[in-house]
Amino acid sequence: MILVTGGAGFIGSNFVLDWFATSQEPILNLDKLTYAGNLENLKSLEGNSNHIFVRGDIGDSELVSELLTKHSVRAVVNFAAESHVDRSIHGPSDFINTNIIGTFNLLECSRKYWGTLNGAIKDNFRFLHVSTDEVFGSLSKEEPAFTESHPYEPNSPYSASKAASDHLVRAWLHTYGLPVLTTNCSNNYGPYHFPEKLIPLVIHNALQGRPLPIYGDGQQIRDWLYVSDHCSAIRCVLQRGQIGETYNVGGCNEKANLEVVHTICDLLDTHKPRGDGHSYKEQITFVADRPGHDRRYAMDAGKIERELGWRPAETFESGMAKTVAWYLANTQWTQNVTSGAYREWVEKQYVGAA
Ligand code: NAD
Ligand code: TYD
Repeated sequence: MILVTGGAGFIGSNFVLDWFATSQEPILNLDKLTYAGNLENLKSLEGNSNHIFVRGDIGDSELVSELLTKHSVRAVVNFAAESHVDRSIHGPSDFINTNIIGTFNLLECSRKYWGTLNGAIKDNFRFLHVSTDEVFGSLSKEEPAFTESHPYEPNSPYSASKAASDHLVRAWLHTYGLPVLTTNCSNNYGPYHFPEKLIPLVIHNALQGRPLPIYGDGQQIRDWLYVSDHCSAIRCVLQRGQIGETYNVGGCNEKANLEVVHTICDLLDTHKPRGDGHSYKEQITFVADRPGHDRRYAMDAGKIERELGWRPAETFESGMAKTVAWYLANTQWTQNVTSGAYREWVEKQYVGAA
């Protein structure tokens, strides 16, 4: 059995669902169910005895230790985190608690548990930590994409907390020999993406007739990765990654935010045209920029391709078409996750813009 943390969030739930499409191996899913965790994402697994869900905190050492031992866990995949840059600017403390102290606790519990194992079971144990390209800081337009050896230069409370967790993971290998793997990926998108992040927020606002908020000049660049491609990369690293190595995962899709929003508007204009026949682009609204906004992220995913044979299957066009189609077919999901807490966040962040 593997322990997946944060498996009710966006990427974690996609990972769990994709896992069962190809594997019979059970998953123990530990998730605190913060505002970002939704059991609704895992509804299709109801009655599947290979999926064991436990509501709990990665910072709870008693619980984590008990779960590792009781279920003879052979690998930990750590998705659990506070993940939204804007929220980290308004209130960084949850980011420190979960991303740094929580990861520390998970490492410590894993190290103690791993110390009790023997032989091949011990040799085959893995701790895979899921991290982000944001730890590398910001690139100018001309600079080459981030490689694994790029210096860490985090700029937001979120990326600083993820950078700290990456360093802890590294230290637990070098100091204690814990067999760790780290993946650093670019911006994901796809089904079950909480509508506080750019792509689902724009789809949701467009359909609600609300403004589509673009921070600053909208020319910030992200490297968009379809979530199921990210999940296949993690499975690949878990199976074949070299202990102690880090792997960059990117979508080979660098796009400026404004271009992303135009693509969404074009897809919605085709598949769900506005009643008045006008384009959704009319709803685009430029708003104040994010403080410390990183200009460009880009991943060089050459190492994972050369060493492990992984490549993304989706292009930006195919991934965006699937994503918009999913949101159009699952409006109930969006309605259910945009609760009172969500509305409070939107008020705080966009002060009346939404
Ligand atoms: P998310 O915010 O959608 O989900 C996070 C999940 O973790 C939620 O289900 C939440 O309930 C759970 N969680 C939070 N604190 C917890 C705690 N203390 N104990 C247990 N569970 C807890 O995040 P996501 O977008 O799915 O990201 C998953 C991972 O991937 C994160 O580590 C994030 O830093 C990383 N990442 C995400 C992206 C992206 O584009 N979304 C890009 C790069 C890296
Ligand atoms: P986001 O989805 O929050 O991911 P990240 O900050 O981790 O890259 O944002 C993606 C880009 O979109 C980022 O440059 C900020 C920008 N953005 C907007 O322009 N408007 C918005 O309302 C949001 C949420 C993001």
